[in-house]
Amino acid sequence: MNAEDEIWETGDAKAIAMEMQFMPAALVSSGDNMMAAAWLSQVSASPPLFMISLRKSRHTYDKVQETGEIAINLMPIEHADKVHYCGTRSGKKVDKFAETGLTRREPVKTSSVLIEQAIVIYECKVVNEVEAGDHQLIIAEAVYTHRKKGIDIVDVRPALYTGSGYYTTVMRPYKF
Ligand SMILES: Cc1cc2nc3c(=O)[nH]c(=O)nc-3n(C[C@H](O)[C@H](O)[C@H](O)COP(=O)(O)O)c2cc1C
Repeated sequence: MNAEDEIWETGDAKAIAMEMQFMPAALVSSGDNMMAAAWLSQVSASPPLFMISLRKSRHTYDKVQETGEIAINLMPIEHADKVHYCGTRSGKKVDKFAETGLTRREPVKTSSVLIEQAIVIYECKVVNEVEAGDHQLIIAEAVYTHRKKGIDIVDVRPALYTGSGYYTTVMRPYKF
C-alpha cells in the first residue's frame, strides 16, 4: 500500500470526488424547467445515447417522469454564473428563466424547453432508467440536434465544473 507522502493525498473517495471534478456544466431541461448537470456523458454513438445522473429529489426528475424527455444544453463559459444559479435553486420555487435572463428556444421533436444561449443542444427521449447509489441514471436517445452556426471546435469554450462552486473552460485544444 502507498503511504501518505508530500505528493499524493490519499483517503476518502467521496470527499475528494466532490472537490475534483472535470465535467461539463450543462443545463438539462425537461418540461419548462432546467437545472445544472455535470454528471452526464454520451454513452453510445449509434444510436446516440446520453446518460445523466439525477437525484430523485430534483424538480427536473419529476418532469422527466411526466414527459419522458430531456434536452441537454451545453453552455459557454460566459454563462457559468447562470448555470450555477440553475444548479442551486429549484424550479419548485423559482422561475429560472426570469431570474437568469436566459431565453427559451422552441423544441422540434420533443416538448422540453431549449436554451437559446447554448452552444449545442440535444433533444432526447428517455429510453432507460437505472438506480445508482443516491442518483438515478437516466439514459436518453438524442432525436434532434441544434448547433450554433459558424462555431469552430477550436474556438469553443464550454463551461466545465471543477467542484466546490468553481468553473473553468478549455484552452485552445491539441489535435493528434
Ligand atoms: C455545476 C452543478 C452541477 C450539478 N450536477 C448535477 C447532476 O449531475 N445531477 C443532479 O442530480 N444534480 C446536479 N446538480 C444539482 C442540481 O442542479 C440542483 O439541485 C438544482 O437546484 C435542481 O433543480 P430542480 O429542482 O429545478 O430540478 C448540480 C449543481 C451544480 C451547481
